[in-house]
Amino acid sequence: MGKKDLVIRVAGEGGEGVISTGDFIAAACARAGQEIYTFKTFPAEIKGGYAMYQVRTSLEPIFNQGDTFDVLCAFNGEAYEVNRPFLRPGTAFVYDYPDGDFEPEIPPGVFAYPIPMSKTAKELKSYRSKNMVALGALSILFNICEKTLVEVIVDKFKSKGPENLNFNLEAFHKGRSLVESVVKEDPWRVDDPVDPKDVLIISGNEAVGLGAILGHLRFFSAYPITPATEIAKFVATHIPKVMGVLIQAEDEIASLSQVLGASYAGKRSMTATSGPGLALMGEMLGMASMSETPVLVVNVQRGGPATGMPTKHEQSDLFLAIHGSHGDASRIVLAVEDVNDCIHMTAEALNLAEHFQCPVILLSDGSLAFSTQTVPAPKVDAIKIVDRKRWNGEGEYKRYILTDDGISPMADPGTPGGMHVATGLEHGPTGAPNYASANHEAMHRKRFGKLDAVVNLIKPTQVDGEGHADVGIIAWGSTIGVVREAVTRLRAEGVKVKGFYPKLMWPMPVAQYEEFARGCNKILVPEVNFQGQLSHFIRAETSLAPISMTICGGIPFIPIQIMNKVRETL
Ligand code: COA
Repeated sequence: MGKKDLVIRVAGEGGEGVISTGDFIAAACARAGQEIYTFKTFPAEIKGGYAMYQVRTSLEPIFNQGDTFDVLCAFNGEAYEVNRPFLRPGTAFVYDYPDGDFEPEIPPGVFAYPIPMSKTAKELKSYRSKNMVALGALSILFNICEKTLVEVIVDKFKSKGPENLNFNLEAFHKGRSLVESVVKEDPWRVDDPVDPKDVLIISGNEAVGLGAILGHLRFFSAYPITPATEIAKFVATHIPKVMGVLIQAEDEIASLSQVLGASYAGKRSMTATSGPGLALMGEMLGMASMSETPVLVVNVQRGGPATGMPTKHEQSDLFLAIHGSHGDASRIVLAVEDVNDCIHMTAEALNLAEHFQCPVILLSDGSLAFSTQTVPAPKVDAIKIVDRKRWNGEGEYKRYILTDDGISPMADPGTPGGMHVATGLEHGPTGAPNYASANHEAMHRKRFGKLDAVVNLIKPTQVDGEGHADVGIIAWGSTIGVVREAVTRLRAEGVKVKGFYPKLMWPMPVAQYEEFARGCNKILVPEVNFQGQLSHFIRAETSLAPISMTICGGIPFIPIQIMNKVRETL
C-alpha cells in the first residue's frame, strides 16, 4: 500500500515566522481540497527558542500528526540539530544556505535543497520575509498550490498594510524563482488540488468557541492563560452578535464566580482555562456543585504542575478534573478527541450542565488547542439545545425540592414567587441552611444520584473493531486519533487489536469498560501523563487490570509508538 499522505515540518527560531509558514501551508492545502492535521510546538517566550510546525496532508481522512516528517524545512542551526536524528534516507531537507547560521552534514540518501533564504530576504531589504522566500521554494518543490497560497498570504498580511503585503508577495515569488530550475529527485509532492469540500479550517481552541456560540452560550468570563486564551478571543469576537457578554476577569476565581452568577441569573455560561486556573477554581466548583448551578469549564491541559511547560502538550489534569475540589463535589467530566469534537461536544457540554444543573468540565489539550484541522461545516439546525428545567409558577417554590430524577426546577431571579437562596451552605429543599445529618445525606444522594442518568444521555463509547482481540487499547483525548491509526495499521499486519474511545470520563461508564474488556486478552492504556491517570481510575472503578503506557515529554504520542508497544505486549 503506497503512502497516501505527506508530512512537512517547518522549524526555526520563535520570531522567524515558522508558525505563519506552517499556517499558510496548512490553509493553502485545505483550500485546495486536502484534509489537514497540524501540530505545532513553540517556546513560552515571545522571541527565541525552538519553534516547530508540522502539516500532515492527504486526500484521505487523517487523525493525527503522523509518525515523522517527509520534508524538513530548517530556518536555523538549532532546527537542524533537533531534527537531524529524523533525517532518514528518502527525506527531503530544505535549509537556509549559504547565509544561514549552520552548515549541515547531509546524511546519506537525504535529498538536500539549500535555499538562500536569509540572503534573498536581505537582498530584498525585507529580512522579515525570509519565511516567505522559504515558502515560495517549498511551493514549487512540493507542489503546494500557488493560487491558494497567494490567497492565504494576502488574507494574513493585508491587515498589516500594503507595504508589508507587497514585500512578502515579492519574497514568495522570488523563493519560487530560486528553485524553478532545480532538478527535483525526491518523491514528495502534495496531491493536485481537487474541488474544495464544505469544510471549516479551524483550530481546536477556535472550535470550542464556535461550539459554545452554536450551543447558545450567552455569558463568558475568563482570565487569559496559555493554551486556552484563543477560546476567549474567538468568543469575544462572536458573542456580541448573539447579544451575549464576555468579561475578562481579574483572575480565575473571579471568572468562575461571575459565570456562576450569570448562570444563576438564567444565562448559559462558561469559562475556559488551563490546569493552574482550574486549580484556582476548586472552591467555586464546589459552590457550583452545592448550589446546583449549571456551569461549563473548558480546561485546556498543558504540561504541569505549576507554571510547568505552558505551551506544551499533556493529559495530566484528569485527577484534578474528576476530584479537584473540597468535600464530595459532584460533576461531569468530558474529554474531546479532535477539532470536530471541540465544536459538537462544547455545545453538548452546555446542554449537560443545564440539564443536570451541575458543573461540567470539558478537557481539551495543548496539541489539540493549537492544531488546525479540516472539519465538516457544522449543521447549525442539527445542534440540539437543551434548556434547564424551569419552575412553572405553581404552588410553593422550593429550589432544591427532592424529585425522582434528582433535578429540581430553577426559577430565574425576578420570577414572581420564585425568590430563593442558592447557597454554598448545606441546605434543605427551600434553600435555607440545614445541617441535619439526614438532610446532608439526602442532598448528597440528590447531587450525585442525578448523575447516574448521564451515561444514558451520551452516545455509548465507540468501540473500534469487532470480535475478540489480543490487545484492546483504551485511549482518551487527542491520543484517540493516534490510536485509531495504530489500530488500522496493526490490523493490516494481521494483529488482532481493538480500540475503546471514552469521551465521558466521569461518571465512568463502567459497564461499557467491562463489556469491552470481555472481548480482549489484554488492555493497554496509553496517555500523556506521568502517573497513568486514566489507568488509575480504570483500576479503581472497574475490574480491569490495564497495562499503563505513559509518556510526558510535552509532545503527543505518534502511531508507531503505540504499534511497538502492542507488539511488545503480544
Ligand atoms: N512579514 C511580516 N510579519 C510576519 C512575517 C512576515 N513575513 N512572518 C511572521 N510575521 C508576524 C506574524 O504575523 C506574527 O505577528 P502577529 O502576532 O501580529 O500575527 C509574528 O510575526 C510572529 O510570527 P509567527 O509566525 O506567528 O510566530 P513565530 O514562528 O515567529 O514564533 C511565537 C513566535 C509563536 C513562538 C511567539 O510569538 C509566541 O507566541 N510564543 C508563545 C508565548 C506564550 O504563549 N507564552 C506562554 C506564557 S504562559
